[in-house]
Amino acid sequence: MRPIRISDGNVEVLDQRLLPIREKWVKISSYEDAYSAIKTMVVRGAPLIGVVAAFGLALTAPSKDLDAAATKLKSARPTAINLAWAVDRVLNAAKNSADSYKAAYNEAMNIFNEELSNARKIGENGERFFEDGDTVLTHCNAGALATVDYGTALAPIRIAKERGKKLRVYATETRPVMQGARLTTYELLKDGFDVTLIADTAVGYTMLMGRIDKVIVGADRVLRDGTTMNKIGTFQVATMAKRFNIPFYVALPSSTLDLVSELKDVKIEERDSSELTQIRGRRTAPKGVGIYNPAFDITPPDLITAIITERGVYYPPFDFTKVGP
Ligand code: MRU
Repeated sequence: MRPIRISDGNVEVLDQRLLPIREKWVKISSYEDAYSAIKTMVVRGAPLIGVVAAFGLALTAPSKDLDAAATKLKSARPTAINLAWAVDRVLNAAKNSADSYKAAYNEAMNIFNEELSNARKIGENGERFFEDGDTVLTHCNAGALATVDYGTALAPIRIAKERGKKLRVYATETRPVMQGARLTTYELLKDGFDVTLIADTAVGYTMLMGRIDKVIVGADRVLRDGTTMNKIGTFQVATMAKRFNIPFYVALPSSTLDLVSELKDVKIEERDSSELTQIRGRRTAPKGVGIYNPAFDITPPDLITAIITERGVYYPPFDFTKVGP
């Protein structure tokens, strides 16, 4: 299933806030539309927010200040590097062409097509880690809904199924936005997978009970030593996997690699307190309580068994300058 559809310059995205209850499509015709869709999490997932920002910038009226639009778009969500990467690509394409509008749109299309092919290749490169009969745990949603199709973490699972392997998937709820409960289960059930939902707090016990053979997650940004920023809770899952000697894989397209930044320069997004004090508009915590709501965490490379990209698979110590190891 694809969360974005494009035809003749029309771009529409699936409103992921409404899933799994309702499928509603929202039009993206400008950078303002893209900014709002990304900020409010109509769309989410590192590769997808990059693609949507790219089209938003490309569809912005030529009379507008593209630099200002690009800066605004990049500010929508600070942790996933795909966002700034995609916006810069479209901006550069526009600046280096006499027909900036056309060049920007073509570049957004290139990014879309590259992410589509990258996701499939991640699946092909990662499928080998999953054996017939395995039960695989994933956290958050790094599936088709977070990309343009297939997913990153879910791509190897999909390709394994295509090749006749029977896998069972455990999805964490992924509080507070519930990407696991609402999105991962939704897209995997649609594709005929055997999916079991667990509370985030059940990860350790589920592993202790011997129910999990492998873990695979996506990423929002990976630094040159393999340090991985991903959905809050990933570090806990990785720590538990290490405790039980369960392989822990991270899957991402190279648009998620940040080989330049130092850890201290990476901003971990903190989201609105209402995500923790309310569930669907109903208050679940007392007024006046202090709130700390980081949307992502940091998993150190020593907890990661392998990093799967479209270029190939990397093992510790991670060196992404090698192509297709
Ligand atoms: O806050 P979200 O839903 O945008 O966070 C998404 C994640 O953390 C995903 O695991 C990550 O973007 C990888 S998506 C292929």
